[in-house]
Amino acid sequence: MDDKIRTFIENLLPAENEIEQELRNYAKEYHVPILRRDAAAFLRTIVSIKKPMRILEVGTAIGYSALIMSHAAPLSHIDTVEIDMDSVVLARQNIKKAGKENQIRVIAGDGNEVLAALTKPYDMIFMDAAKGQYVYLYDDVLRLLKEGGLLLCDNCIFYGKVLDKPEETNHKHRTIVTNMRAFLERMMADRRLEASLLDVGDGMAVACKKF
Ligand SMILES: C[S@@+](CC[C@H](N)C(=O)[O-])C[C@H]1O[C@@H](n2cnc3c(N)ncnc32)[C@H](O)[C@@H]1O
Repeated sequence: MDDKIRTFIENLLPAENEIEQELRNYAKEYHVPILRRDAAAFLRTIVSIKKPMRILEVGTAIGYSALIMSHAAPLSHIDTVEIDMDSVVLARQNIKKAGKENQIRVIAGDGNEVLAALTKPYDMIFMDAAKGQYVYLYDDVLRLLKEGGLLLCDNCIFYGKVLDKPEETNHKHRTIVTNMRAFLERMMADRRLEASLLDVGDGMAVACKKF
């Protein structure tokens, strides 16, 4: 999205609550890649509309987006998966500080292994982990999503890098671009889904599982 448009939109958004501001400041200082403000607002809106009872998030970081969802759907239960142990510890502290430890469960582990072991379905799944992993998580995500369930995936445009052909991408990002393209092609063409890709945050895919 054009920076001028993003700034315009972000300036219209009301201030976040105290803990969200605290986490955003922390993320800025320590370079933790949490949701951009426009994407956070979108997440808040869509969770408020859908009011999912069971939410799965892959990629907790410090707990910012999980807390947003917990406020937008106060009756929901949220399982959020994080591979990095330092982040797991921080997220649990932040969630406790917000008084949401009974609503949000942080599961430590690699999303690929954790999801493969989960069996109880979810009303919503939010993918916000390593961009190159989405394609590997896809089958389990679809298996775990209820009929009528909502799938959201951030970072699908990868700062615009996904627009370049993999062979024209610098070596460091080539695998991520190749995998993200494979994921997007698969998801957008999947007949079980009604999917679209939005220029929100770093590229937000939104889909409903029809059957
Ligand atoms: C973009 S950040 C998540 C930001 C968070 N959702 C937010 O907006 O507050 C991505 C997180 O995914 C985690 N991650 C990366 N690969 C993962 C995997 N295979 N399984 C679980 N977590 C993973 C990273 O350690 C990082 O904390």
